[in-house]
Amino acid sequence: MMPSLFHCIALLLALFTTLAYAVHPVEVRGQDFVDTVTGKRVMVIGVDYQPGGQGAYKPQSGADALSNGTVCLRDAALLQRLGINTIRVYNVDPTIDHNECASIFNAVGIYMIIDVNSPLPGESINRADPGSSYTTDYLTRVFGIVENFKGFPNTLAFFSANEVMNEIGNVGRNPQYIRAVQRDLKNYIAKHSTRTIPVGYSAADVREILEDTWSYLQCAIDGDDKDATRSDFFGLNSYSWCGDGATYQTAGYDVLVSMFQNSSIPVLFSEYGCNKPENVARVFNEVTALYGPDMTSLSGGLVYEYSQEESDFGLVNINENTTVTLRKDYDNLQGQYNKLDLSLIQSTNASATQINPPECSAQPSATTGFSAFTIPKLPDGGDDLINNGIDNPTQGKLVPVTETNVPMAAYGSTGEQIQNLAIRPLETTSPSGTGSPAPTPSKKGGGSMLTTSGCGVAVAMFVTVLMIL
Ligand SMILES: *[C@@H]1O[C@H](CO)[C@@H](O)[C@H](O)[C@H]1NC(C)=O
Ligand SMILES: *[C@@H]1O[C@H](CO)[C@@H](O)[C@H](O)[C@H]1NC(C)=O
Ligand SMILES: *[C@@H]1O[C@H](CO)[C@@H](O)[C@H](O)[C@H]1NC(C)=O
Ligand SMILES: *[C@@H]1O[C@H](CO)[C@@H](O)[C@H](O)[C@H]1NC(C)=O
Repeated sequence: MMPSLFHCIALLLALFTTLAYAVHPVEVRGQDFVDTVTGKRVMVIGVDYQPGGQGAYKPQSGADALSNGTVCLRDAALLQRLGINTIRVYNVDPTIDHNECASIFNAVGIYMIIDVNSPLPGESINRADPGSSYTTDYLTRVFGIVENFKGFPNTLAFFSANEVMNEIGNVGRNPQYIRAVQRDLKNYIAKHSTRTIPVGYSAADVREILEDTWSYLQCAIDGDDKDATRSDFFGLNSYSWCGDGATYQTAGYDVLVSMFQNSSIPVLFSEYGCNKPENVARVFNEVTALYGPDMTSLSGGLVYEYSQEESDFGLVNINENTTVTLRKDYDNLQGQYNKLDLSLIQSTNASATQINPPECSAQPSATTGFSAFTIPKLPDGGDDLINNGIDNPTQGKLVPVTETNVPMAAYGSTGEQIQNLAIRPLETTSPSGTGSPAPTPSKKGGGSMLTTSGCGVAVAMFVTVLMIL
């Protein structure tokens, strides 16, 4: 049967959108993340993505969590099916190509929050001696991450540091260095990126220093709201909601809400999902609370973590033969996401987006060491890096996503194979509606459309015209 003209036009449009589709960049307004195109609030519905665990990151190996497009295709399909809109990726190599993975996640509407550091020596601020680790080599690494990820519209934000202050006793001069790194990242982004990308800190849940840490990082020195050393947002690694019986009160979420209610920057859970009691699938009742009416002053969170690793927090098992088996945790989390009220999650609150930062002089706590606002100067040579950019950066950019079908098998939590596992580009992911098992794809990606439709020649010409333009 000859394809109708209408059929051809529909295919052309579909292909065009496949090539052109990009999530809308997000920016910070007051305490909300906001979609810069629709003006709607972006609540982070996310998962920490660290297949292979921390140990999987080896520099100079040419590989990291976002380097293998086939692996990303598999995981993006399962994460889209789960119903998320964001991943956090901890350890990435600024010198390698992440285009395929970033483009796949973009195609399914998943943002990325990228840590600029890694646990390796020289690749993060050393909490025991921050001054010695704040060097131009270190800055070259973190600016390399900016160069690598600034070109992806789905780069939601960067973490300047993770859990540097993790005990009451070790605060020391670390807070000042975190503000210094944030300043440098923000100045670099302002100079070398066409859009602003938020920069924030991810804090350990040490309640004794939590409020001080947040106060210290959100405030404006001398009341200057352009103060580049401030955090643009604040992440809390939160593990206080444990087990089936926990509640909003017993988990202390009520305390967090009163602490952060009037935050001048977005606050999100950069990790959550307590795994106690052990050896029982997590039920994730905290999801209802986190995205419910009592917690709209927070911006959602990221469940720790996608894959089962030594620390026993996985939503899925990645098998040695590269197949994936879902764990019951995945099903439970998907069930929770499917109950969310999207209109509540996306609604904006005008006063929340207009909160001004408090002035730092008002900030307390000589006891925890958070009172010093003399921010370290750039190391020698740092100015050059910011003004001229780093040498030979690897700059990422979106590439067409042509393969949508996942080549390896995935199995449900009861062992049955998931049929026709594929990413579904173009659709915006939302918790409700993506929770059902992936339907048989009704359309295929751009590449296969060319061969399966009688419109091939027309499409090819159209693509050529696009490329010339
Ligand atoms: C990507 O991962 C798959 C599955 O583990 C593997 O078969 C393939 O060789 C990897 N590709 C590259 C370029 O490393
Ligand atoms: C937050 O602001 C509201 C309105 O201005 C005020 O009623 C409330 O007490 C404030 N909460 C905190 C914890 O400061
Ligand atoms: C891959 O490994 C998993 C877990 O060991 C097993 O259940 C599955 O059958 C294997 N699949 C293939 C295609 O070999
Ligand atoms: C709007 O945001 C402000 C500041 O966070 C908060 O005090 C207030 O309760 C919010 N209003 C609603 C209806 O959520």
